[in-house]
Amino acid sequence: MSAPREVREWVEKLREEIRRYDYYYYVLNQPLISDAEYDRLFRELQELEARYPELVTPDSPTQRVGAPPAEEFAPVEHAIPMLSLQNCFNDEELEEWDERVRRLLGGEPVEYVCEPKLDGLSVELVYVDGVFTVGSTRGDGRVGEDVTRNLRTIKQVPLRLFPIEGRVPRLLEARGEVYMEKEAFRRLNAERERAGEPLFANPRNAAAGSLRQLDPNVTASRPLKIFFYALGRAEGIEIRNQVELLTTLPKLGLPVNPLWKLCKTLDEVKAFYRELLAMRHALPYEADGMVVKVNDFAQREVLGEVSRAPRWAIAYKFPAEEATTRVLDIVVQVGRTGALTPVAILEPVEVSGATVSRATLHNEDEIRRKDIRIGDWVVVRRAGEVIPEVVKSIPERRTGQEREFQMPTRCPACGGPVVRPPGEVAYRCENLSCPARLKESLRHFASRRAMDIEGLGEKLVDKLVESGLVRKLSDIYRLTKEDLVRLERMGEKSAQNLLEQIERSKGAGLARLIFALGIRYVGEHLAEVLAEHFPSLEALSRAGYDELIQIPEIGPRIAQSLVNFFQNEENHRLIQELKELGVRTEAERPRAGPLSGKTFVFTGALTAFTREEARRLVEALGGRVASGVSRKVDYVVVGADPGEKLRKAQELGIPILTEEEFRRLVGR
Ligand code: IVH
Repeated sequence: MSAPREVREWVEKLREEIRRYDYYYYVLNQPLISDAEYDRLFRELQELEARYPELVTPDSPTQRVGAPPAEEFAPVEHAIPMLSLQNCFNDEELEEWDERVRRLLGGEPVEYVCEPKLDGLSVELVYVDGVFTVGSTRGDGRVGEDVTRNLRTIKQVPLRLFPIEGRVPRLLEARGEVYMEKEAFRRLNAERERAGEPLFANPRNAAAGSLRQLDPNVTASRPLKIFFYALGRAEGIEIRNQVELLTTLPKLGLPVNPLWKLCKTLDEVKAFYRELLAMRHALPYEADGMVVKVNDFAQREVLGEVSRAPRWAIAYKFPAEEATTRVLDIVVQVGRTGALTPVAILEPVEVSGATVSRATLHNEDEIRRKDIRIGDWVVVRRAGEVIPEVVKSIPERRTGQEREFQMPTRCPACGGPVVRPPGEVAYRCENLSCPARLKESLRHFASRRAMDIEGLGEKLVDKLVESGLVRKLSDIYRLTKEDLVRLERMGEKSAQNLLEQIERSKGAGLARLIFALGIRYVGEHLAEVLAEHFPSLEALSRAGYDELIQIPEIGPRIAQSLVNFFQNEENHRLIQELKELGVRTEAERPRAGPLSGKTFVFTGALTAFTREEARRLVEALGGRVASGVSRKVDYVVVGADPGEKLRKAQELGIPILTEEEFRRLVGR
């Protein structure tokens, strides 16, 4: 069936509207409409495209994700090489650079534009007649990798440019930096730590690792952002200087870091550098310096380049974030997987604005390699805003009183034996019910992205384990109100709330449950992949290595880790018990539906169905039901005599549905 003209026009109009809302939301940070309204438009477009597939275009807002993993990245040649920058580290070096610039320009007046130097990954995006066609990494400057499908998943990247005075450039090669905000990076790493996955060392590595993913769906799940700051080729648009560039790009829909400044003198450049340096830690992203660029493009031509860096720009780097202090002690922490991590207890020291008193030493091999002893003077670094680390020791300052660190042979938490499996760097406590491991496992199990048991936080986990109420994961489903109120500082009301949350978590679903078990290397994404492949946790637990390895994305390391986990007697029993205690271990099908990703809360009495019926309706359409109102909730359905939840929903501005509206939404 070919689409009638009205439908075609309507689809185009919907896309235009959605693109405009995306632009205001992702580029200008000014949402124009509510999320619910946006979702409605988006769904309408999706439905029309499903009905008339011939109307789907690659630049439709619906086409950001869904591509299958690639084998490898194809090479992309940059028409104009992507250069690197020369560095300077103090005012004198900056002055020398400025003098050379002025000399080469024969004393003409020069203006500079200064911008923060983002620590991310530089990319080039090619727009042909306004449509995003190819995106690539910098690579060696001449040839990069084709990451088009991954860049498409970044919401800030327009799939089509906005016209200026009715026109889009014939060709525009926009260059910029893909980066991850510090807060997003911290959250991603916390999640990876809980899942037993290797951590990213800093936001830059996290951004690079996320963009260079063969599976664009993984990239889509990572909170990447982008700022544009330079051009390759540009045809059908005239841009004569950096100020024009930075003011024109946003009009085309390409986000630009607003923190730039046009400087008429070198003193202004220096002053802006100090300003940026002072706000460095308050910035949401990591910046490792300031880029100073000659504003005028014609002058840039004259200046040219040397050894793959332009003469017209320089990076004025921020000072390294290092300090020296003493190691007072080295202690050992036990993680969820039983890994023992040595941590240096330091004499507190200021490292660019923050007090550091602990730093990770990673593992025993690292301590030997860096030769770090208790009592040593050491250099510590705040590497990319993460956990501070000890860079090196300063043996020249030794007095002879220093002691070498010995890895304990018994677990500091439970006293059980520790082993170092062949080929691994970490020692592990093998005792599955070691309280330190159990606490970490419980925290992970209850965490927001796992079983999402609100109220089961750090302190409570400690108490539950220390009081002996919880000796294994499944015990949390055996807790009673009497158990809880006996705990210090736990009232009737909070005990009741916690029990409700625990009860609710039984329906969290298979993917969350798999993730919550904390199987090594199985993060959120893999858990979803597994939940799509197996009808139940039992089926997954019975799968052999050969079956697992057939699944795309599951390599030998992960397959082996899964097999090991499910072969373990105790884990086997755990799964049995969870099931007996009422935790849903089957996949809920259909998994996707029109209400996918939507969370509902009910308050007051409904006339047409019971709460349980309403819940099943929502879940059948892919949605979820929560017991309390929070910002995560999308709709609050209000029946007769609503309670406190209605007021809370109004306060938070959450869309409120009457029973009638709800019935229409679920088609009843
Ligand atoms: S301009 C020819 N502006 O720094 C110079 N680069 O070391 C073109 N970078 O590869 C780059 N922030 O990844 C420019 N505001 C900014 C930047 C920036 C970060 C990166 C970029 C480049 C590297 C050079």
